[in-house]
Amino acid sequence: MKILTDNSMESDMEDLTGRVPRHVAIIMDGNGRWAKKRGLPRAAGHRQGTENLRKIIRAAVEFDVKILTIYAFSTENWNRPRREVQLLMRILEMVIDRELAELNQEGVQIRHIGELDGIDSRVAKKVVQACETTAHNTRLILNVAFNYGGRDEIVHAVQNMMREGIAPEDVSEESISQHLYTGDLPDPDLVIRTSGEFRLSNFLIWQSAYAEHYYTDVLWPDFDRICFKAALDEFATRTRRFGKTDEQLETESE
Ligand code: IPE
Ligand code: IPE
Ligand code: MG
Repeated sequence: MKILTDNSMESDMEDLTGRVPRHVAIIMDGNGRWAKKRGLPRAAGHRQGTENLRKIIRAAVEFDVKILTIYAFSTENWNRPRREVQLLMRILEMVIDRELAELNQEGVQIRHIGELDGIDSRVAKKVVQACETTAHNTRLILNVAFNYGGRDEIVHAVQNMMREGIAPEDVSEESISQHLYTGDLPDPDLVIRTSGEFRLSNFLIWQSAYAEHYYTDVLWPDFDRICFKAALDEFATRTRRFGKTDEQLETESE
């Protein structure tokens, strides 16, 4: 995979100048329905979804997104048939095996968010290895949410804070944020969900408190660079008030 910016794309990007979301989070949904529509097994949808992910990571670099967080396996996905769960584990392992060298070369820093406990130890080891190998890269931070749940994340944060003996008066929005898996990272500016579902499904529930949301009917395997660009364009038209009035925002920008 090449994540090099093609000069021919530059004019395409002019309208995004200054309005590119720094942190984009994606709920990659619709693999199963993509396969079903074609009379294929769900596994084919997951495979195609993985192919698509390669392209979207590349597009994120091209569009100058700094942090991309992808939802790959939720704490609720354990409720799926055992065979599908095993397949999703195997896909994670395969992606690491196939893509790590190239992602590393292209400056992608891989991080895992979620719990490694419960994941097959061989796969978990590869995840840790992938994170260590790419830790010094700075071009794009890629957070892979695998065995991730937003409520679970908050539970772990609170447990850790209590273990550290943090005094009640020191519990703040900042200290909670710092104890989440996303610790040092800014909150997502834009959350995208494919496949026409309008819910967060336990994804970044704390961090997305003020994110812009973008929902599309396009199924994840079909969500290409153009679809991604459309989401970023839509983001660029949004007014983020953070509780303030338009008049205040106008004064601030003068
Ligand atoms: C998203 O696609 C991938 C994961 C949740 C792992 P789905 O597998 O949820 O696809 P649909 O929703 O059944 O179409
Ligand atoms: C959310 O998709 C989880 C991922 C994309 C990994 P699901 O397809 O599992 O969500 P629900 O169950 O429809 O809410
Ligand atoms: Mg789904």
